[in-house]
Amino acid sequence: MGSATHTSEAPIVLGIESSCDETAVALVRGDGTIIAQAIASQEAEHAPYGGVVPEIAARAHAERLAPMIERVMGEAGLTLGDVDAIAATAGPGLIGGVMVGLVSAKALAMAADKPLLAVNHLEGHALSPRLADADLAFPYLLLLVSGGHCQILAVEGVGQYRRLATTIDDALGEAFDKTAKLLRLGYPGGPAVERLALEGNPKAVPLPRPLKGSAEPHFSFAGLKSAVLRAVDSGAHQPADIAASFQQAAVECLIDRLEAALTSAGPFPALVVAGGVAANKTVRAALETLAAKHAMRFTAPPLALCTDNAAMIAWAGCERLAAESWAADNHFAGDSLDFVARPRWPLDPEAEAVRGAGVKG
Ligand code: KG4
Ligand code: ZN
Repeated sequence: MGSATHTSEAPIVLGIESSCDETAVALVRGDGTIIAQAIASQEAEHAPYGGVVPEIAARAHAERLAPMIERVMGEAGLTLGDVDAIAATAGPGLIGGVMVGLVSAKALAMAADKPLLAVNHLEGHALSPRLADADLAFPYLLLLVSGGHCQILAVEGVGQYRRLATTIDDALGEAFDKTAKLLRLGYPGGPAVERLALEGNPKAVPLPRPLKGSAEPHFSFAGLKSAVLRAVDSGAHQPADIAASFQQAAVECLIDRLEAALTSAGPFPALVVAGGVAANKTVRAALETLAAKHAMRFTAPPLALCTDNAAMIAWAGCERLAAESWAADNHFAGDSLDFVARPRWPLDPEAEAVRGAGVKG
């Protein structure tokens, strides 16, 4: 297995992401510079099915990854010899796609004699705000809202994540996607719902705020989704009003649950949001207001770092190298080339199972 032998202070990490429907490659330096990156969405392939089809995703990753790695390395004018470690998402996610990325990373690590870093996709999201905001220090309160996850975490350091809350049923991104499907807005749904909501009245449709007011900060969105279904079926409302009212209900749930987390586990110096739903402007604005109310610093990564990307995976690799006190003379071995892809991989292994939340990690 390889060891890191680069002579400069800030290591360069090649990152690979393939856990869902984005194939992505990035080269990131430990000082926070994104040297080069590429991302290919599979929206067109999955759109006819209204969601991600795992087999199609895995095949598309396999076709695109190798040429993409070559292109990114070429754009950066670097060879594998210049890279200090190879990082790839090793889970959680759609296992076929994860395996494509991880196997490629293992092959590169072996061929170039560099350390392999098997990165938890959620850790990529959790640390991405520090790539965007160099002054963001640990600890921070993280709202991780994506298509597969909806969690509140106390991020205490690299590798130190305490899960304070998770969803007992659907993730918020999933609820956005289902609302989009019900309103026939196509896939992916989040941005489409956000766009339509701009034209609607957020107070027009009465919708529930599941778990609002409960002391434990967990989330639930299944009831909201069913209520949207009933509102659509009733034919009594404009689609834009349904979209706006759904978004409003979702945002109120987020704020209420974060208030509960702050009450039970706070205070925190900073509030951070990550994951695909963090791209939503109404969500961001509400979080910014909440942070101001509690005198917390607020960080939201730029949109391109919120949705799935490889820069966050490479950055998580940089963070791990830094945490390992990586240096030219410290022969950090990285993860085993036998590391097995994990369809499920909770960030906080100590977190207690929450009813209905098993598949969400
Ligand atoms: O983090 P991400 O790219 O992939 C996962 O790891 O799941 O998140 C994708 C999710 C999708 O459910 C998508 O609909 C949602 O993030 N999303 C949004 C917006 N952009 C993406 N949800 C609401 N508003 C948006 N603007
Ligand atoms: Zn993600």
